[in-house]
Amino acid sequence: MIQPVILSGGSGTRLWPLSREQMPKQFLRLTGEQSLLQQTLTRLEGLTTLPPMLMGHHSHRFLMAEQLREGQQEGQIVLEPAGRNTAPAIACAALLARQLGEDPLLLVLPADHVIGDATAFIDSVQRAEPLAEQGYLVTFGVVPTHPETGYGYIACGNALGAGHHLEAFIEKPALERAKALLAQGDTLWNSGMFLLRASRYLAELERLQPDMLAACQEAVARAHRDLDFLRLDEQAFQRCPSESIDYAVMEHCSQAAVVPLDAQWSDIGSFDALMATHTPDAAGNVVTGDGVLSDTQRSLVVANHRLVATLGVEDLIVVETSDSVLVAHRDKVQGVKQLVAALTQAG
Ligand code: GDD
Ligand code: MG
Repeated sequence: MIQPVILSGGSGTRLWPLSREQMPKQFLRLTGEQSLLQQTLTRLEGLTTLPPMLMGHHSHRFLMAEQLREGQQEGQIVLEPAGRNTAPAIACAALLARQLGEDPLLLVLPADHVIGDATAFIDSVQRAEPLAEQGYLVTFGVVPTHPETGYGYIACGNALGAGHHLEAFIEKPALERAKALLAQGDTLWNSGMFLLRASRYLAELERLQPDMLAACQEAVARAHRDLDFLRLDEQAFQRCPSESIDYAVMEHCSQAAVVPLDAQWSDIGSFDALMATHTPDAAGNVVTGDGVLSDTQRSLVVANHRLVATLGVEDLIVVETSDSVLVAHRDKVQGVKQLVAALTQAG
């Protein structure tokens, strides 16, 4: 049986000022009526699964509950008392599943991605199932288009079932390494989704991250109910090292595979990526909300509270929110993360 585990605890700072600490990317309606979290749950309707587990930060609990209610979607919300990245969140989900006496295949899904072709996504998951049943930690690989340094790279080995042995996993390589990996020709981007048997993931953690596993075991053993939420024990969870599944497990695991994913996937990691999910007008512009563009090319304008007008500009990102405005050159959108860090420091 498949147990969906929705990772909903990130902050998505590269989309500031749309995305905020208290309103991260997964809760935004960036590409339609539904938020990215709601879209993630809707996408699962093509599969037969157990009710999803939503792993998120306790400060977002009412947002998560409200979005489930609004979408009439079901799921158990599990609250992390602190941000400890994805490896512990997945560990706690695995332990909770084991506590029920089950050993399901965990379908780990980031809550903040866009997938244009839901049928192709379901198809990839179904093709990954036999491999996960055999004990492989299965990744979903996307054909890379450029030497992106914000992704994990998967070197494909020999053919295996519907995919390949995972020869090597390289998380967020520096630019030169990313270029070399791309030139190799047999590498894929890690989409950030995984299919893995709960007991297999826990066994890898025992070998690679015994302190993390011990802290998670205690956090789950002492978890308590609060309304409809399940709260992990704070003291124990605080002791957990903060590490992503990619660095903590995937770079070192012993039995892993990759299945191709060709589903118009995007992690909307930047305003450029957000633009790419919309159809631009004849001048290459994307406008959402109240924007009036004159003699403007290849620009993104998001105007939800005030009229935004542009004249004689090109390759600009203009994002207006109730309290902040971002104006950036499209070539510099990767720097928004650093900008937000500087703003946070400045208080
Ligand atoms: N529950 C929980 N707790 N979720 C978290 C936490 C946490 O502490 N931290 C992050 N997440 C969620 C995010 O909301 C997102 O949905 C997912 O976990 C992945 O985290 P990111 O922080 O967005 O990771 P990344 O984008 O830098 O890298 C990952 O995704 C890439 C593809 O988008 C890696 O898996 C890369 O290898 C991959 O290429
Ligand atoms: Mg991401």
